[in-house]
Parts: sequence; structure tokens; C-alpha cells
Amino acid sequence: MKILVTGANGFLGYYLVKQLMDKGFFVIATGKGACRVPVKQSDSFVYSEMDFTDPFRVHDVFAQMRPDAVIHSGAMSKPDECEQDQWGAYRVNVEGTISLLLNAAEYKSHFIFLSTDFVFDGIKGMYQENDLANPVNYYGKTKSEAEEAVKEYEYGWSIVRTITVYGKSYTGRKSFPELIKEKLEKKEVYYVFDDQVRTPTYAEDLVSGIVSVIEKKATGIYHLSGGEILTPYQMACEVADYLQMDRSLLKPVTASELSQPALRPLKTGFITGKAKRDLGFKSIGFREGLEKTFS
Ligand SMILES: NC(=O)c1ccc[n+]([C@@H]2O[C@H](COP(=O)([O-])OP(=O)(O)OC[C@H]3O[C@@H](n4cnc5c(N)ncnc54)[C@H](OP(=O)(O)O)[C@@H]3O)[C@@H](O)[C@H]2O)c1
Repeated sequence: MKILVTGANGFLGYYLVKQLMDKGFFVIATGKGACRVPVKQSDSFVYSEMDFTDPFRVHDVFAQMRPDAVIHSGAMSKPDECEQDQWGAYRVNVEGTISLLLNAAEYKSHFIFLSTDFVFDGIKGMYQENDLANPVNYYGKTKSEAEEAVKEYEYGWSIVRTITVYGKSYTGRKSFPELIKEKLEKKEVYYVFDDQVRTPTYAEDLVSGIVSVIEKKATGIYHLSGGEILTPYQMACEVADYLQMDRSLLKPVTASELSQPALRPLKTGFITGKAKRDLGFKSIGFREGLEKTFS
């Protein structure tokens, strides 16, 4: 089975490519520019440069590869960047997704879209799949609009929403625990939100859930996240304690005390019962995730 992965050079990209290859799938990794995915040459891996905002390139890659499934992980994924470059975010996150959907339809590929807790407003917290989206920032708006396009796809679609994905970084962009470690090593005071609530997700757990979506041909919306409810400040303190570093450098702040270009939803977190039932989804605790991140 041939799986095309977009955003393969991104943080999650490596985990997707690695686990899919380990499971015996043929992986067509795609990304902007040269390959930065650190996997060994293999008969079951090919990299194709593909900016998915270029419809001609998308057409050519799909025509050549004819994927059975597409995991659309590529995105403009930083909320502040999306807020400051709204046209760019729309082009990448919405128009890019539509272009991929149109091409996937030619080959009736199963289309799996990576989405986010940021489609919710953060008032209620602990969201289920059928809760109403109501994004508070532009990143969330683009992901929500892309979700609507995915729902129109005729040949089997899955929307996998996730939250604060972390783990060891292999392709450049650091995950939250690694960022905290870097700040603590520099002995910098670091302000961390303590009025937001998340259920952080270990990257390998998320990818196992996505592989299960493919294997079981599970369609519809799935919430895949860790099970522990933590604020970013609490996560940062756990990192400091785990690494036996000085947690007094970490200062709790609220959204009203520290302004950022994009608003964040306050309380997110997912109920993952549907994924557990349908996919056999499992997640490890944050402490175990830190052990794996820093091993
Ligand atoms: N990480 C999280 O905590 C989290 C939480 C919820 C949802 N998600 C979703 O999960 C997915 C993966 O996230 P991630 O953490 O892996 O993000 P990431 O590290 O920012 O990776 C995204 C990748 O998409 C690529 N990309 C951007 N525009 C592109 C284009 N026009 N054509 C081709 N590739 C393009 C980027 O390329 P360059 O590297 O060349 O810029 C980057 O490699 C995203 O859809 C994100 O919205 C992530």
C-alpha cells in the first residue's frame, strides 16, 4: 500500500515516515525543498519535493505516484505566524488542502487530515469529536475551514485532531519539552502559561493511532491525544523536575499578562473514547513521554 505524506520535513513528518516504513507501507514522503527526513535509503521510501500550494506540482506527483492513502500533515502550524500572515496561512492551510483533495480524488485515495484542538474556542474544555468548532485565532480558522473541505471528499476521509505533540525532534523544530530544556540550560527566566489546559500527546502514540486509521480504514473525525490534563506551566515544571534542573526559572503567567499575536483557546483537552474503541488507541503518561523524549 502506497502512502503519500505531506510535510514530511516537519516535526511529525519523521515519526509518520518511520512508523509507516516499519509497518511495511511504501512511503512517498513529500515536503518543500530538499529531503530532511533522516531515514536510510530503502526500497519502501521515496522523497518527492512538492510544495502543495503549487497545483501543477501536486498534479504531477499524484499522477506519478498514485497513492492509496494521503496523510496531510504539512501546514503553516505556528499560530502567531498565521495571525501575522493571514493570506499565507489561507493559501497553505486551506487552498493547499483543497488542491490535495482534488488530486487525491483522481485516485480515490483515503485522505487523512491532521487537525488541531485550536478549532475549538477553549471555553468548555475536554472536547469530543462532535463538539462545535469555534476557533479564536486565524490558524484555528484555517484548519477548521480545511476540515469543512475534507468533509466534502467523496472517497473516504478521516480528520485526526491532536494537541501539543511532543517527543524528540529529528527535523529541526523543537518540541515543547525540548524548548523548556534549552531555556533552562541557558539559565533564562521563562514565562509559561498557567491558565491554559491541554492534554499533551506523545508523537509515537499519535502516529500509531494514524496507522490504525489507515489499517482499519476508519473514517470520520478522531480525537487523538494524551490522557493527562496539564497547563503548559505544569508541563514545564515536570520537564525541570525530570531533568533535575532549576524550576524556579519558570514563571507562571496568564494570557492577560503576556500578549501574543494570536489568542489561544484557554481550556482544550480531548476525550479519546471513540479512538480507544474504534482504533485501539493508547497513550503513555507525560512522565514516560519525557523519558522517551530525552533518552
Ligand atoms: N505539533 C503540534 O503540537 C500539533 C498540534 C495540533 C495539530 N498539529 C497539526 O499536525 C500537523 C503536523 O504538525 P508539525 O508539528 O509536524 O508541524 P511542523 O513541524 O510545522 O511541520 C509542518 C511541515 O509542513 C511543511 N509545509 C508548510 N507549507 C508547505 C507547503 N506549501 N508545501 C509543502 N510543505 C509545507 C513545512 O515545511 P518547512 O519545514 O519547509 O517549512 C513543515 O515541514 C500540522 O497539520 C499541524 O497543524 C500539530
